[in-house]
Amino acid sequence: MKWLLTQANRFGYKNPGSYVGRLFAKKVSVELKFEEVLSVMATAFAPVSVKLLFFCFSVALLLGLVSSSKFDELFQPSWALDHVIYEGEQLKLKLDNYSGSGFASKSKYLFGKTTIQIKLVEGDSAGTVTAFYMSSEGPNHNEFDFEFLGNTTGEPYLVQTNLYVNGVGNREERMNLWFDPTQDFHSYSLLWNQRQVVFMVDETPIRVYSNKERKGVPFPKDQAMGVYSSIWNADDWATQGGRVKTDWTHAPFVASYKGFEIDGCECPDSVAAVDNAKNCSSSERRFWWDEPVMAELNLHQHHELLWVRANHLVYDYCVDTTRFPVTPLECVLHH
Ligand SMILES: *[C@@H]1O[C@H](CO)[C@@H](O)[C@H](O)[C@H]1NC(C)=O
Ligand SMILES: *[C@@H]1O[C@H](CO)[C@@H](O)[C@H](O)[C@H]1NC(C)=O
Ligand SMILES: *[C@@H]1O[C@H](CO)[C@@H](O)[C@H](O)[C@H]1NC(C)=O
Repeated sequence: MKWLLTQANRFGYKNPGSYVGRLFAKKVSVELKFEEVLSVMATAFAPVSVKLLFFCFSVALLLGLVSSSKFDELFQPSWALDHVIYEGEQLKLKLDNYSGSGFASKSKYLFGKTTIQIKLVEGDSAGTVTAFYMSSEGPNHNEFDFEFLGNTTGEPYLVQTNLYVNGVGNREERMNLWFDPTQDFHSYSLLWNQRQVVFMVDETPIRVYSNKERKGVPFPKDQAMGVYSSIWNADDWATQGGRVKTDWTHAPFVASYKGFEIDGCECPDSVAAVDNAKNCSSSERRFWWDEPVMAELNLHQHHELLWVRANHLVYDYCVDTTRFPVTPLECVLHH
């Protein structure tokens, strides 16, 4: 199980420098602008086909909203800028024998929901890992990981998820997917509030880490996290336990991205961590992800989760008694 050993080294390698900037609430201003234009135009052209105009401007409004959540507003390239490729509404990360590449959010967030649509490396992706994750900084960092482990042509990708709390990870799970993630874009989301962390694929929950602090299980709740993605070579562990190496004659390996969304409580660098934590955890100013219905999965989601785990889970640290002769506490409480 060599891949386990490399986990510790991995973090320093894929986590890029530091990020400044704050851009949020942009959606609102774009919406307002379009609404103003809409009403002015509607008055000016009242006798003309108002319906048609409305249609046109609804389209413009939609486009405005889409563009307001574009890559540049929320993210920036953070590793190997010449391997980060802009192609219309898509962004591509490239891995070749010179370098991998990556991007990072400009801001950090405490709670909320982050979604990115990803189309994974087509054809031969053996040895490569594409990661989408959130992470805080420092020795006691928290981290939520999606790691997509490539495979030889025609063989299925595996999705490894992991979760670090206070610097401790070792909570790997592995699944295959119910579709081919290299053929189309699919959405991958992390929902995080004070009650739970939910990993979702096309809005279907695939993993939940719920808050069991009262029973002594640590829960991530006071460190702001950045949002990151990267592609890199991990052929010492990623594919079939490291047996299959990256075939560089098939490079470049390209992962494609679109639909960048972060709806979170933003934590400016200029504000002290405790104040950010206070601001984002306040029970008075409740965010949608703090609503009581978000404290746990609803019944439908719970059934989906059971279905995914019954049909697609191929590795669960909770039942790996070789690695954990003593079952981790959160697993005991879970099962
Ligand atoms: C990378 O691959 C290219 C094309 O196959 C080759 O020409 C080049 O020498 C390789 N570079 C390194 C550093 O291996
Ligand atoms: C790759 O394909 C093999 C054979 O189907 C499978 O056992 C393995 O789980 C797949 N994924 C990875 C990452 O090795
Ligand atoms: C608190 O969080 C909100 C939402 O992210 C932000 O708009 C506001 O500026 C923050 N206030 C302080 C004092 O940090």
